[in-house]
Amino acid sequence: MKNMSTNITWHNTTVEKGDYRKKNGHHSGVLWFTGLSGSGKSSIANQLNKLLYEKGVQTYLLDGDNVRHGLNHDLGFNEADRKENIRRIGEVAKLFADSGTIVLTAFISPYQEDRDGVRALLGENEFLEIHVDCPLSACEKRDPKGLYKKARAGEIKGFTGIDAPYESPDKPEAVVKSDQFNVQECAEQILTLLEDKNWIKGKEGA
Ligand code: ADX
Repeated sequence: MKNMSTNITWHNTTVEKGDYRKKNGHHSGVLWFTGLSGSGKSSIANQLNKLLYEKGVQTYLLDGDNVRHGLNHDLGFNEADRKENIRRIGEVAKLFADSGTIVLTAFISPYQEDRDGVRALLGENEFLEIHVDCPLSACEKRDPKGLYKKARAGEIKGFTGIDAPYESPDKPEAVVKSDQFNVQECAEQILTLLEDKNWIKGKEGA
C-alpha cells in the first residue's frame, strides 16, 4: 500500500527491544496461528497464553473476532479487506514484539503472501507460523458459531473453506493437528517449541 504520510521522521527510543527483553528475562516475537474457522486457533492460543502467563512471561493475545470489533471494525471478508486486516495485525504484532512481548495472534489469514508479509516485517527468529491443521470436515462438524451451516445455506458468501480459499502454510515452524490432540496438548506442543528455541526458559531454567 502506498505510504500517504509525508514529512515524518523516525525517532529512535532510548529504551529498546533488547532492554525490554532483558527486563522480562525472555525473547519476544510473534506466534502466528493460522487455520480454518473452527480449527481451534483461538482456543489453543488462549490456552497457551494462559500457560505462558502462569510462567510469568509477558504476553498478549490478538484474536480475529475481537480485533474485528475494534481496530478493524471497518473491514469485511473480501480479499482486499482480509489482506488489510492481516497487514494491520502484522504491524500491531510488530509493536508488541518491539515492546518485549510474546504476542499470540489467531486469525484465519488465508493467504500465504499476507503471512509472508508479516514475517518480512519481523526480524530473524521473531515470527513463528503455526498451522492449526484441522480438516474442513471436522471444522464443519464442530461449527462452534453455526457459520458453516449458514455458509452452506448461502446466507454467508465468501466463507473460508466453502467458497473462499485457504492456503495452507508452505513452511510453517509448527503444525498442530487439532483434530488428533486436545487444546491443552496442542498448547503444550507450542510451549515445548518455545523452550527448544530458547524463547523462554525450559523446565530446568536452562
Ligand atoms: S481473516 O480471513 O481476515 O484472517 P479473521 O480471522 O479476522 O479472518 O476472522 C475470522 C472470523 O470471522 C471467523 O472465525 C468467523 O467467526 C468470522 N467470519 C465472518 N464471516 C466470515 C467469512 N466470510 N469467512 C471466514 N470467517 C468469517
